[in-house]
Amino acid sequence: AQPKEPALPLFYGWFLSSEVEEKIKCSTMEFLKTLDTLEAFKKHISEFTGDADKEVDLEQYFLTKAPLHCTTEFCDYGKAEGAKEYAEQQVVKDSCGTATELSVVGLIVTPRTFGARVSLTPEQLSLWPTGADKVGIPPADLPGVEALPVGSRAHVTLGCAAGVEAVQTGIDLLEILILQQGEEKAVTVEELELGTLSYMGQGRWYLALREPVTCDATFLSFSE
Ligand code: A2P
Repeated sequence: AQPKEPALPLFYGWFLSSEVEEKIKCSTMEFLKTLDTLEAFKKHISEFTGDADKEVDLEQYFLTKAPLHCTTEFCDYGKAEGAKEYAEQQVVKDSCGTATELSVVGLIVTPRTFGARVSLTPEQLSLWPTGADKVGIPPADLPGVEALPVGSRAHVTLGCAAGVEAVQTGIDLLEILILQQGEEKAVTVEELELGTLSYMGQGRWYLALREPVTCDATFLSFSE
């Protein structure tokens, strides 16, 4: 009989320490509370509710996903293209179980997803798969994605609206970054204690944090 190949995981990524996870959950919930009460947000509420007169409780609207992590490679147990090649890289094997610090530089909120934008260091980028920024992006957005720095998609999904898959967070983040570098500038800008809030149209909000938040994390593979 042939020896069985070791199974590939569901995905690889950096997992936030449980201490950081608690801290991030608290501070991001505070941000949602603040956003919810802003007049600028209320003006565009129908993009979340489908009805301008309806209220939304953002803390309930987004269902949290645990454990909090920043995906590098989605392997889907080997079904995803390039999964085996990724897992076989020496840097991937050597990095499993090692600690690092992720830098969260912004937050995104859309009618679909709530996420934290992560800025990767050159060392962390060595674990970022080639072409990962493009996975699942609609063809119309691809030229914009190619103009963004490698690793632009790096993020932590903090929550998804009911029925929305976590993979959407990276797509929403890229869409926002493409809009930011394009001609169209943000419509509304508000200075909050946490940073600068921009409205990008169609229910898309971006908070650029005044101070990046450093998060202890460990690179691991994950299987359910
Ligand atoms: P994300 O990294 O945006 O949070 P699921 O729970 O849906 O099986 O996904 C497990 C993890 O893998 C999630 O973190 C998810 O999104 C990520 N993921 C799921 N599908 C993909 C995909 N096609 N491409 C990249 N990442 C994916």
